[in-house]
Amino acid sequence: MNTKNEIEEQKQYIQKIKEINQVQKPKYSIFTMGCQLNENDSEKICGMLEEMEYKKVENFKDADLVIFNTCCVRENAEDKLFGKLGELKKIKEEKGTIIAIGGCMMQEKHITDKIKESYPFVDLLFGTHTLHKLPEDLYNVLDQKHKQEDIIDIEGKIYEGLPIKRDSNIKASVTIMNGCNNFCSYCIVPYVRGRERSREPKDIIEEVKELAKNGYKEITLLGQNVNSYLRVEREKNIPFEEYQGVNSFATLLYAINKIEGIERIRFISPHPKDFTDDVIKAIRECDKVCKLVHLPLQAGSTKVLKDMNRKYTKEQYLHLVKKMKEEIPNLTLSTDIIVGFPGETDEDFKDTLDVIEKVGYEQVYMFIYSRRVGTPGDKMENQIPDDIKHKRFDRLKQLVENKIYENNQNYIGTTQKILVEGKSKNNEHTLTGRTDSNKVVIFEGNDSLIGKMISIKILSQHMWYLKGEII
Ligand code: SAH
Ligand code: SF4
Ligand code: F3S
Repeated sequence: MNTKNEIEEQKQYIQKIKEINQVQKPKYSIFTMGCQLNENDSEKICGMLEEMEYKKVENFKDADLVIFNTCCVRENAEDKLFGKLGELKKIKEEKGTIIAIGGCMMQEKHITDKIKESYPFVDLLFGTHTLHKLPEDLYNVLDQKHKQEDIIDIEGKIYEGLPIKRDSNIKASVTIMNGCNNFCSYCIVPYVRGRERSREPKDIIEEVKELAKNGYKEITLLGQNVNSYLRVEREKNIPFEEYQGVNSFATLLYAINKIEGIERIRFISPHPKDFTDDVIKAIRECDKVCKLVHLPLQAGSTKVLKDMNRKYTKEQYLHLVKKMKEEIPNLTLSTDIIVGFPGETDEDFKDTLDVIEKVGYEQVYMFIYSRRVGTPGDKMENQIPDDIKHKRFDRLKQLVENKIYENNQNYIGTTQKILVEGKSKNNEHTLTGRTDSNKVVIFEGNDSLIGKMISIKILSQHMWYLKGEII
């Protein structure tokens, strides 16, 4: 069966569950962990459930169906899931709540074994390659009152046409590719998300056009390695249909830049090794493409980068930054850093601090290395003791905060274009929006500005946000 027919079949299951739910209008609650790709998957899960007439509630206790969309990139997510399952046990005993767990963690056998053994009350386990089959799996749980497990380990296919219920009506994420072929030695993602495969240009462009028609202003293109969009297809002669001249990431940026109504385009994550000149040029030439580029460094030492299988050296990374700064006016950068990778010496760690010092990032996402079963990093013998990892992390955090404080000062007195996102969380008399560089800005203003691009003069900085006034 082709993927289109598979989705048609699932739509019939959606109808069947809708009929069951018609009278009771049951409630669901969803708990999402992990990256924006997972958040985008959760929006699809919500889309399917709402077509089945489930109503969303925040609190687990009020729900008839609880769904977890899990992440396994670092260890702390596991503790979180098991903690929540412990809480849910009693609730399930009282009201028969259906519990379903999906996402990346479900592609790890040692985790599903543990769930089956220690949390046998869970009704449904589904993986990253079977998300589209949620309607059928859920129907079987409801109809047969029988536990379901639907996890497969494959390279992965692309499914189009799933319903989607988006969290925002201003900003939308659009997944452009699934999976990863890079196998960085610390990372579990390639094992749980399968091989890299890109969506057809036409499907992406039509989705963005539809979003623009519905009033969305900002699009974030998602993938584990966005700047290798369509690379595997080109290299392995896997057929794809060129549409509006799109046959690479750079050409995709140009095509989306032309879509009327869209004001901003962001993308995460590109890989430094794939940052070709055509992509740099596209960022410069496309007026809607934000000039904030997330450029994950991971580590500053060339030796550690080699052990991480990142395929660039410290010098190559710095050279790329220099070139991008020269070619893209108003460029800003953010990055990801891992501290305490096996074999990292104090000298190696200093190389990380050195790059942070030299580049001057807008934002640095910092992680302590977490051993992941099945990755080469986990088998390396020279693991770093926890206390050293934590000391390095604290030192890095201090440097990053100092640099961000310094950098924030440069905003004061400047005029920034802001996309207004809504009321601010803690004060309903103020609005919140973001700069091109993704900094949160808070200011006084009227609700009618929500969803608009406006100019704001920055008055003060408060570490994680800026305050300003409309001009
Ligand atoms: N594909 C993206 C990142 C996906 S995971 C990229 O290459 O940039 C997001 C971040 O989590 C990574 O950039 C890395 O910094 C961090 N990460 C991944 N595996 C990790 C591990 N085992 N321990 C700690 N941090 C990890
Ligand atoms: Fe993980 Fe590396 Fe792939 Fe990113 S590029 S998902 S860090 S293996
Ligand atoms: Fe986590 Fe899966 Fe994303 S492991 S980081 S949710 S791809």
